[in-house]
Amino acid sequence: MAESMLGLKRSHRCTEVTSSNAGETVTVMGWVQKSRNKGGIIFVDLRDRSGILQIIFEESDCGAESFAKAEKLRSEFVIAVTGHVEKRAGGVNENLATGDIEVRAESLRILSESETPPFPIEENSKTKEELRLKYRYLDLRRPDIQRNIMVRSQAAIITRAFLAEEGFFEIETPTLIKSTPEGARDYLVPSRVHPGSFYALPQSPQLFKQLLMCSGYDRYFQLARCYRDEDLRADRQPEFTQIDMELSFVDVEDVLDVNERLLKRLFKEICNFDLELPIPRMTWREAMDRFGSDKPDMRFGMELKNVSNVVGGSEFAVFKNALEAGGSVRGINANGQGAMPRKKIDALVEFAKGFGAKGLAYIAIAEDGTYKSSFAKFMTEDELHALVEAMEGKPGDLLLFAADRDKVVFDVLGNLRLELAKQQDLLKKDDFKFLWVTEFPLLEYSEEQGRFVAMHHPFTMPMDEDWHLIDSDPGAVRAKAYDIVLNGTEMGGGSVRIHQGDIQSKMFEVLGFTPEQAQEQFGFLLDAFKYGVPPHAGLAYGLDRMIMLMVGADSIRDVIAFPKVKDASDMMTEAPAPVDEKQLEELGIEVSETEE
Ligand code: AMO
Ligand code: AMP
Repeated sequence: MAESMLGLKRSHRCTEVTSSNAGETVTVMGWVQKSRNKGGIIFVDLRDRSGILQIIFEESDCGAESFAKAEKLRSEFVIAVTGHVEKRAGGVNENLATGDIEVRAESLRILSESETPPFPIEENSKTKEELRLKYRYLDLRRPDIQRNIMVRSQAAIITRAFLAEEGFFEIETPTLIKSTPEGARDYLVPSRVHPGSFYALPQSPQLFKQLLMCSGYDRYFQLARCYRDEDLRADRQPEFTQIDMELSFVDVEDVLDVNERLLKRLFKEICNFDLELPIPRMTWREAMDRFGSDKPDMRFGMELKNVSNVVGGSEFAVFKNALEAGGSVRGINANGQGAMPRKKIDALVEFAKGFGAKGLAYIAIAEDGTYKSSFAKFMTEDELHALVEAMEGKPGDLLLFAADRDKVVFDVLGNLRLELAKQQDLLKKDDFKFLWVTEFPLLEYSEEQGRFVAMHHPFTMPMDEDWHLIDSDPGAVRAKAYDIVLNGTEMGGGSVRIHQGDIQSKMFEVLGFTPEQAQEQFGFLLDAFKYGVPPHAGLAYGLDRMIMLMVGADSIRDVIAFPKVKDASDMMTEAPAPVDEKQLEELGIEVSETEE
């Protein structure tokens, strides 16, 4: 039995009804959270996106017909109730926004019934994520997810308003574009009209926003859907949303300035957090040296120390070999962890090995000042002493060392630092520590491809003072690139772009493109640059990541209405799925092997 809305109009959302409405008649609509029949009286918790309101049914108020219907109510039935607002007769419920009132029903309509849902619709669900995602439309009814989705909407609206005030135009760019070889793997879309040819879904609007600058639009933004076929993690989805922007006639400072003000506005209005400006800045080099990471979490210390010089003369083979091979020895001081049981230290060694370490050397300093160390026997008393001093080790501290190539040492200690902070519960989610990381390397050597690849993308401007090194020492050239990091997550990134044809051509050459290949792939951009291109720069945030951090979610899946799971599939619609033979035929596509 599903009744109609005929003649009914909702007057309030559930929590819009307050004690100031006492004595009034209201009409509310929503889902039955729960219903308790106490004999002659039925209590119903009614839920909508605003919250919960208690309804009371008694036959003397609502009549026999409505009362009979009320007796049938079960969880997730959709109902409309018209009734009288009263101050609560029983005690006030402090847990509800509407805890001091109730609505005494005068009539009830059941707008639709519900089967028993596969899991309870409640906050902090204990239900497995797979089941929740299969029934995402039910999961999305849960108040904590609804709050996340509402925050996301709010953030989008504030961003649009702020950027409009700052003179940005919102412009859409295409999502069926040409595949480009740089960056992550593309998602491809076959063309029916041109069999054997493919569009790619954009990894970002990068090239189009640069073209918009060539076209004189000056300041552009877009809440852009992006697609990347890469391995998924808690902060990565195959399709995600960027707050994407580009500005003309600007340098690094201008981009950072407008973005700092945008972040201040967003975090104030949404989290009531006062972001102090300017946001601190750190070069990439310093971030690596001090934190072993290009996205350091600034909520706690435990910084890395380079002790290569201190152990330089030591005969300990592990240290000696690493240094002789051009690597380094670095350590972190886990303050106050000196009494860590051997088993836990062994677990840290295994953790380090997971990031490529061959081992993890340690010195535990007891309260009486004596050392327990995995390598004491390889070093003299004086050498150990000097090492402890360099690490500012005090009684009760645990010193951990990695010796290897720099890349491995940073990776190991950077992650170990985070792991120790987690173990000690130092990572408070409502403590927002922002950081700009600047002066990234322009290029990064890819062992896999045997050549340099762009660290950000091939359109990023090198730093003027380093450009002369491009042939002799390409790895040493820094870029006018910056990331905005929040609590150890890369929330956004951008750069000043190359606007000089000769630098861009050289860049392609270094990346291993022949002039013909560069023209073939990016000809439209190189040509556009021949007709008057303004200096320009930009940045893009991962909107999903930003919201995840704002609401303190553990995964971006919790802030995306319909997310995908680890293998990039959608549990609800079961995409991706095979298609009709006929569709494939039209596209001129033959599938050689299908998955079981
Ligand atoms: P970048 O590749 O750094 O830069 O992306 C910008 C931001 O997008 C977010 N992000 C993702 N979020 C969720 N899932 C993913 N798979 C994913 N990949 C990236 C991150 C990241 O910081 N066009 C340039 C920006 C520019 O130079 O203006 C770009 O796309 O938060
Ligand atoms: P070994 O001589 O292999 O028994 O190593 C002595 C100590 O050094 C052990 O605690 C190892 O875990 C540690 N160790 C081994 N390789 C490394 C390395 N590359 N960096 C830091 N410590 C290491």
